Amino acid sequence: MRKILFLSFIASLSLLGTTHPAQADSASAVVGEVQPLTTGEDVYRHVCQGCHMPDGKGATGAGAQFPAFAGNAKLKSSAYPVYVIMNGYGGMPWFSGMLKDDQIANVVNYIRTHFDNHYTDAITPADVAAQRPATPPQEQ
Ligand code: HEC
Repeated sequence: MRKILFLSFIASLSLLGTTHPAQADSASAVVGEVQPLTTGEDVYRHVCQGCHMPDGKGATGAGAQFPAFAGNAKLKSSAYPVYVIMNGYGGMPWFSGMLKDDQIANVVNYIRTHFDNHYTDAITPADVAAQRPATPPQEQ
């Protein structure tokens, strides 16, 4: 009788053992679900709004000035924000290495059509590619 109980205990242990590979599979499935940022709004929310604020009105404080996009006439030219994003500007870091052409095009189109801006001449990833600096910006 005792021997039978012992054998069933061993059997249940090896059943437990078979659950490990299944757990590993579900963990890698979760990692695979992380989505890249594609829309202009996604890029804005994750990359830009920490400095330029969710309402695009910028901020002043702690010795820094984050310009507003709301009613900013400099956004009339699409090449200007593309240049700033690619090369950085004053206290703003550059994002040429981190953001792809379509992400930069989408976020520029986003800030030029939100925050009270109505510039409808959208740019394409090819426009952004044409503005990529030949060599990435260097630390100053
Ligand atoms: C770490 C903070 C920070 C982040 C993140 C940041 N910016 Fe800036 N940005 C600044 C600062 C500071 C300036 C002003 C620099 C100056 O005037 O010297 C600026 C300036 C600009 C300007 C020029 C505005 C003007 O009136 O001349 C544009 C356009 C711009 N940022 C777009 C973006 C976009 C789009 C993103 C996201 C991809 C972004 N920024 C992310 C800090 C940031």
